[in-house]
Amino acid sequence: MRLAIIGTGYVGLVSGACFSEFGHEVTCVDINEATIAKLRAGEIPIYEPGLDELVKRNSRSGRLKFTSDVREGVKDAEAVFIAVGTPSRRGDGHADLSYVYAAAQQVAESVTRSCLIVTKSTVPVGTAKQVASIVAKSRPDLTIEVASNPEFLREGSAIEDFMRPDRVVCGTESESAQAVLRDIYRPLSLREVPILFVDCETSELIKYAANAFLAVKITFINEIADLCEKTGANVQAVARGIGMDNRIGSKFLHAGPGYGGSCFPKDTTALLKTAEDFESPMQIVKATVDVNNQRKRMMGRKVIAAAGGSVEDKKIALLGLTFKPNTDDMRDSPAIDIVRVLQDHGAKVSAFDPEGRRQAELLLEDVEFAEDAYGAMEDADVLVLVTEWNEFRALDLDRVKRLLKTPRIVDLRNIYRPEQMRAAGFEYTSIGRP
Ligand code: NAD
Ligand code: UGA
Repeated sequence: MRLAIIGTGYVGLVSGACFSEFGHEVTCVDINEATIAKLRAGEIPIYEPGLDELVKRNSRSGRLKFTSDVREGVKDAEAVFIAVGTPSRRGDGHADLSYVYAAAQQVAESVTRSCLIVTKSTVPVGTAKQVASIVAKSRPDLTIEVASNPEFLREGSAIEDFMRPDRVVCGTESESAQAVLRDIYRPLSLREVPILFVDCETSELIKYAANAFLAVKITFINEIADLCEKTGANVQAVARGIGMDNRIGSKFLHAGPGYGGSCFPKDTTALLKTAEDFESPMQIVKATVDVNNQRKRMMGRKVIAAAGGSVEDKKIALLGLTFKPNTDDMRDSPAIDIVRVLQDHGAKVSAFDPEGRRQAELLLEDVEFAEDAYGAMEDADVLVLVTEWNEFRALDLDRVKRLLKTPRIVDLRNIYRPEQMRAAGFEYTSIGRP
């Protein structure tokens, strides 16, 4: 099939590359000309494991193309996916749909045949209908249907998640739209991935409900971790103990510094706004958002406590800045709040992140960026493990001890075992473990 993808960010580029790997002919469109120039030159503008190879292979085969010209991109397309950003709208927290509506308008003005427009961006209930009305007004001469197909991939494992999802959710209003989506996803249904067909409103809400539920789950275990710290229980053992119950499940029960990223924070806030609009309060999600926001700053205070109550003029070294490993994405990363709290209390901050430096430099001021983990920790009073990149899991502890001014480690991801660290001579603090 001939497909066009509007927006070549994390979701658009991964979807485009994976659809072309399925055998479809895909053109990816982005208004950012620099992004398109890079992609045409074989450079990947984001860090996502495996994406480089997938894009190169499919570009070489001629099945994957890039353009900044929407007309050229959607020409002859049987389906056009909108995968542009839906950030929090400044001031009120609603999803900012201006990029989606602008993309819908541009696509409608550019298509040359009847086709299916699919919203892949995360959008509030009712957006597919709005897109349909924009398109119908602009092109009464064509039959253009609109469907919803939210994306559930995670950054860092995006290709695996796209190629082997737990399910594909499609919101459609007609059998012909269903047939198009069935064809597009045929390689997955052959692998017995469930394809769930629902109406557009349900599809849109499934996406927000899934993200909110996962955010609640993480926040729940984070609060249990706090209780563990006060009672002497061990949060990892509690998580194992509850996770063995199939009704609960073991995933997304890792206590940490609070969830971040480009999605959970903005999507939980947007869901609260939808709930407000429909006068249907969601107090559990509200509490989750509040607790998570407080938690990120609380992590800064945890470091201050570990430093003996003050970080004034002390050097604090952070390992990992991105919101999770295997991405360069810094959006809403807990590291941002932690750095601010530490700097507000007079600390000098040094940091190392394997892929996040370029984005981190745009967001963080007065941070000294090191070339590797050991460079960051030289003469530091406290070493803080913020993101669990694999390369931080087996640090040379003797070297760490020699480099630090005081052998203090705050491990916000529970990468190390407390008894091992104490035996190695560190003052060691982690999350929810005695
Ligand atoms: P992103 O910010 O990385 O990329 C969006 C891209 O769209 C940018 O490159 C931008 O230049 C481009 N764009 C904006 N307007 C355009 C237009 N009119 N025409 C062409 N290109 C345009 O965003 P993302 O992280 O890929 O997220 C996209 C959507 O997918 C969001 O709604 C997000 O919530 C959702 N989502 C993201 C993830 C994730 O892991 N990042 C996972 C699932 C769903
Ligand atoms: C999340 C969802 O997992 C995806 O299904 C969804 O498609 C995506 O949001 C989206 O809508 O954009 P992502 O944000 O890439 O994916 O990463 P996650 O692995 O979910 O992690 C999110 C945050 O939660 C990170 O800060 C991570 O460190 C934190 N987390 C996750 C925990 O603190 N504990 C856990 O057990 C799991």
